[in-house]
Amino acid sequence: MGKFYVTTPIYYVNDEPHLGHLYTTVAADALARYRRLAGDDVFFLTGTDEHGQKVQRAAEAQGISPQELADRVVKRYEELWPKFSISNDDFIRTSSARHKRAVVAMWQRLDEAGAIYKGMYEDWYCVPCETFWTETQIKESPKPGCCPDCLRPVERVQEESYFFRLSAFQDDLLAFYREHPDFVQPAVRMNEVVAFVERGLTDLSISRTTFSWGVPVPGDPKHVVYVWIDALTNYLSALGWPDEDAPRMRFWPADVHIIGKDILRFHAVYWPAMLMAAGLPLPRRIFAHGWWTVEGEKMSKSRGNALSPAALLADWDADVLRYFLLREAPFGEDADFSQRALEARYTNELANDIGNLLQRTLSMLMRYQNGELQEGAAPEAEERALIAEAEQTLAEVDAAMERLAFHRALGAIHRLAQAGNRYVERREPWRLAKESERARLAMVLFHLAECCRLIAVLLAPFMPVKAAAMLAQIYGHGVDVGTLRLSEHGAWGVLAPGHRIGRPSPVFPKRRAA
Ligand code: ME8
Ligand code: MG
Repeated sequence: MGKFYVTTPIYYVNDEPHLGHLYTTVAADALARYRRLAGDDVFFLTGTDEHGQKVQRAAEAQGISPQELADRVVKRYEELWPKFSISNDDFIRTSSARHKRAVVAMWQRLDEAGAIYKGMYEDWYCVPCETFWTETQIKESPKPGCCPDCLRPVERVQEESYFFRLSAFQDDLLAFYREHPDFVQPAVRMNEVVAFVERGLTDLSISRTTFSWGVPVPGDPKHVVYVWIDALTNYLSALGWPDEDAPRMRFWPADVHIIGKDILRFHAVYWPAMLMAAGLPLPRRIFAHGWWTVEGEKMSKSRGNALSPAALLADWDADVLRYFLLREAPFGEDADFSQRALEARYTNELANDIGNLLQRTLSMLMRYQNGELQEGAAPEAEERALIAEAEQTLAEVDAAMERLAFHRALGAIHRLAQAGNRYVERREPWRLAKESERARLAMVLFHLAECCRLIAVLLAPFMPVKAAAMLAQIYGHGVDVGTLRLSEHGAWGVLAPGHRIGRPSPVFPKRRAA
């Protein structure tokens, strides 16, 4: 049994939770749940990124304090996650005392290591909007050279700033990437990171004097710590750092930081450089997943089409949405959320294959054997093939989860359900019943029950509520899916003659046509 530490990004509180935040969090949850199922000691962290100019401005616009705004949006996250069965072990807020203490310690460590100096920072300023913009933001503005918000001309300004000697870490970073070619996944993202670092690194401005909502720089409180230094430190502050003896520090280094590809550079370049400077071990892996569009369009505030996870629950079970998000596209590639695709996955895979296999298995057990498994005939080639299929599925799911290939893991589970349905059709239990082949019927129903049971156990990390419903019917009593272990439940042949199933009830009913 190993330890396993998985994180999501901490989300900005100037925005409401949307489909993108749900996606990353569900993925991290499925991984955390799978590692627990596999017997690991897991720590799963999510939280919120609350400091910075954007939050300060959003709060001002609403006539409230930044802390009030943060408290309001954090509540939305804290209410949302349980609805999606998110099993995080902690929720870190950057406005909390335990976090701010760690940011101060991180700054001091970097400073003691000689990695921080004071200089002048140049950027662009929009006078009417009172907003600073970076070179890139101005270049990529809808009207290049002008303010991205109001499209009026901007001015060049200078501001005193502290800098982090990022440039000093170029060679060490490149050496680290060479020694750890799987540090960033998927591989295409690793290549991007290496190319970026090879082009040369410039030092990073890590303080601001133009707003106050943040952690004051130790010893120079007119500066606040740049939001990314603050935010990245969450992965340590939640473990109790800078107290190196905190019990949770056993989880460091993180096994995987799951992020969207938008924030790859911060995690794969800045964060490792900071940790090197601070003399701390680096995370084992950064996985940057792809981007969701909705009905073919980019989600954005201005379009007003950002999907609200809570609103989706009016039409779909949370577990079905979890399944869809992780099944629809390879993790790492972009994907599109559409009602049509969701309907298709539900009907073809969950209702027609997985749900149908469970339903027919349990109802035949009720009809032919009064809900009881009975001593059966010796297995034949058909049964051996089904068992081999199930064992292969267990291995495939394990290998897929190792690579965060959620869609492959679900694909393998779905294929096992298809194999189960084909087995039913070949074995024709209804014919065995009619011909009074009791022993062979009992054998077939046993194999079907075991096949359903393994499918439910493997689905538990992805659809915890649905899996619990499946297992309650199969086992005949309630099951806490959070405490299931593959060592106990993940092998063929857990059920035995004399076992009574529960009352069958459809877990994935056919949807009425809209
Ligand atoms: O960047 N598709 O927070 P954020 C997929 N606070 N994932 C998406 C998405 C989409 N369309 N939109 C958002 C921040 N995401 C910082 C992070 S971490 C130390 C600090 C997900 O609220 C994805 O995980 O803008 C992305 O990386 C994250 O939300 C950005 O959330
Ligand atoms: Mg963002």
